[in-house]
Amino acid sequence: MAELEIKNLHVSVEDKEILRGLDLSVEKGRVHALMGPNGSGKSTLANAIMGHPALEITEGSITFDGEDITEAAPDDRSQAGIFMAFQYPVAIPGVAVSKYLRTILNAQREARGETPLKIREFAALAREAMDLANIPQDFSSRYLNDGFSGGEKKRMELLQLALLKPQMAILDETDSGLDIDALRTVAEGINKFTGPDMGALIITHYQRLLHMVKPDMVHVMFDGRIVKEGGAELVDQLEAEGYGWIKEEVEAGAV
Ligand SMILES: Nc1ncnc2c1ncn2[C@@H]1O[C@H](COP(=O)(O)OP(=O)(O)O)[C@@H](O)[C@H]1O
Ligand SMILES: [Mg+2]
Repeated sequence: MAELEIKNLHVSVEDKEILRGLDLSVEKGRVHALMGPNGSGKSTLANAIMGHPALEITEGSITFDGEDITEAAPDDRSQAGIFMAFQYPVAIPGVAVSKYLRTILNAQREARGETPLKIREFAALAREAMDLANIPQDFSSRYLNDGFSGGEKKRMELLQLALLKPQMAILDETDSGLDIDALRTVAEGINKFTGPDMGALIITHYQRLLHMVKPDMVHVMFDGRIVKEGGAELVDQLEAEGYGWIKEEVEAGAV
């Protein structure tokens, strides 16, 4: 069984059905890409996986590691090992990066029945994670996402990945807002951190990121469903031909 298994998912926002019977399997330790035109429901899917309270799941199921999490609280999902990098991360002026990271790390430890880290222990772990994520040490004293550039926000996500070591990272990228340096940062991080212990679902409209990260599997979303699946070659096909042919196939009832 796949690590993340989504079956016949129907999700509505304010009585409008956005996901309309979506099936998706994400394998353990693999890099999956989810592509699709704007408005096809990619971010809605990411939010549904994380349990966003504004969404109503009217049908279907989401299981992670064999456990049904369709109705689980967002916290429980993150304790279970799913990490979500938001498209628009919030800034929290007044809260330093180090303080924020220590709080989330200790919350996870507490949920596992472990004792909280002392400041000194945390500092050692944070230093290690910052080295791994290639981040200067003075980053930790800055306020969370406050005045961060696009690239710095992405570094912040990588730092969280390096510290929290989730089993699956869901990265919803608005590539349009990312400059090439930020994209490269994300790509380097994904390539460095993914492996047998960390899989990823990379959500993207454009192909640029997928030139730097080679997905094991590509899923194409259209109008609230997955309508096409394949290997990395799908990325090239979408780049060459756009999404028009997908629309035609769907309208012809082929998928
Ligand atoms: N909070 C919301 N309220 C109403 N409609 C929404 C909301 N969020 C998303 N939608 C609608 O859901 C559809 C899918 O949006 P989204 O999941 O953001 O797509 P994508 O990430 O693929 O661009 C769009 O038609 C969008 O207008
Ligand atoms: Mg989106």
